[in-house]
Amino acid sequence: MTDCQGDGEGTMSPMELFEKLNAQGEKVRSLKSAKAEKAEIDAAVQLLLKLKVDYKQMTGQDYKAGCPPSENLIVSNNGPAADDCDGEDLVDPWNVSASSTKGVDYDKLIVRFGSSKIDKELLERIEKVSGQRAHHFLRRGIFFSHRDMHQILDAYEKHKSFYLYTGRGPSSEAMHVGHLIPFIFTKWLQDVFDIPLVIQMTDDEKYLWKDLTLEECHRFTVENAKDIIACGFDVNKTFIFSDLDYMGASPQFYRNVVKVQKHVTFNQVKGIFGFTDSDCIGKISFPAIQAAPSFSSSFPQIFGGKKDVPCLIPCAIDQDPYFRMTRDVAPRIGLLKPALLHSTFFPALQGAQTKMSASDPNSSIFLTDTPKQIKNKVNKHAFSGGKDTVEEHRKYGGNTEVDVSFLYLTFFLEDDEKLEKIKEDYTSGALLTGELKKILIETLQPMIAQHQERRKQVTDEMVQQFMTPRPLNFKF
Ligand code: TYM
Repeated sequence: MTDCQGDGEGTMSPMELFEKLNAQGEKVRSLKSAKAEKAEIDAAVQLLLKLKVDYKQMTGQDYKAGCPPSENLIVSNNGPAADDCDGEDLVDPWNVSASSTKGVDYDKLIVRFGSSKIDKELLERIEKVSGQRAHHFLRRGIFFSHRDMHQILDAYEKHKSFYLYTGRGPSSEAMHVGHLIPFIFTKWLQDVFDIPLVIQMTDDEKYLWKDLTLEECHRFTVENAKDIIACGFDVNKTFIFSDLDYMGASPQFYRNVVKVQKHVTFNQVKGIFGFTDSDCIGKISFPAIQAAPSFSSSFPQIFGGKKDVPCLIPCAIDQDPYFRMTRDVAPRIGLLKPALLHSTFFPALQGAQTKMSASDPNSSIFLTDTPKQIKNKVNKHAFSGGKDTVEEHRKYGGNTEVDVSFLYLTFFLEDDEKLEKIKEDYTSGALLTGELKKILIETLQPMIAQHQERRKQVTDEMVQQFMTPRPLNFKF
């Protein structure tokens, strides 16, 4: 065994146990076909059954030959592993595409990724522990999946605090409205639980993946940080950092990066992220850098060297591969697994089959768009679930499940009753596509104008303040 691998069943990762199960299944088959002694076959079968029980205990999933464990998906080819078992939808940090016009099948994704649904019971618990009505992103299933949220709440109820970690890959100056989703929600979590937050700006990631210079990526970090600050984060509780700056300034952060690098193999990241032999080595080792902020010891200035402050990561589910890897490696380096809250994707204007993405300007509404641009984009590009003619629409009604304007309103129209009435009217045919688009335009225009106004107030000094490593103010 090398240093990077487990050296006994107790220290095995789910993937290593999965591989052991494959080998044991193979052994049982070959003993049977060779008509071996009954006692020998029985012993091999017993071991196989024991391994299956261990596997179920470790992963919460039944062992299925050919389907690697979803916490740490690893496959032998170079395609993103998340997609290989039984699904048609492709979801990874770089691509989102669904086979249905209704978008990604999120229930299937939960099963495939091995996460848990945010159900009514969890919603009620969040409300009880926080003492607040659940955010509409939770009530409407926009944040739909989690890992270990109950453990976070258990700890919080015992007056043990936790911290939030989220991030942004600064690939351009302008963020789109989809990028706001995790930040709006993170701000709500920070407010209701009164906890610290770290925000990682992965300018190194964007340098490695895109045709950009280091200076450009660092500049985008500062520009994007202004948009993030404009979401209203409390400077006393929030640390925003650029990887390019913080990696060199924090020995503890770098130590955690190196620990992760030592305990994850090339084969594993190939399986999880689909890297190929021609990818640069920077990409191959990058996941360890996105993993490191999940551990409180990476921020000694905030947590005073404590290794055991639990971490909760709100993000869209495209980022989950990074954190499946992180959760797999954490116990092997003596650190806590981070918990997660996953959101669905804010769809592209062209429809829910793909997410809004900054690399396709026509698919996106940017935080820099003018009221006129917003109006034109919605009118021209927003996919409609309405019928072809007014007569047909009045007769049969529209389909809110695929209508992008309606889907956007589920994210940004906070009034539940108003949203329900729009749904009723559109489905019955009383409300036409043009009228629905008008409601969306009138919702987005002031929202984005207000964001732009708040962003204007964010000075370089404020950015500097948020980005200075320092103690934060919160009660433990
Ligand atoms: P990035 O910059 O691609 O995305 C930033 C955050 O926005 C989410 N997101 C979306 N959410 C809803 N709908 C969309 N259409 C949409 N597009 C993007 C992403 O899930 C993410 O939460 N590698 C990361 C940066 C990062 C990070 C993290 C993100 C570093 N550490 C921890 C989340 C948590 C990236 O490039 O994100």
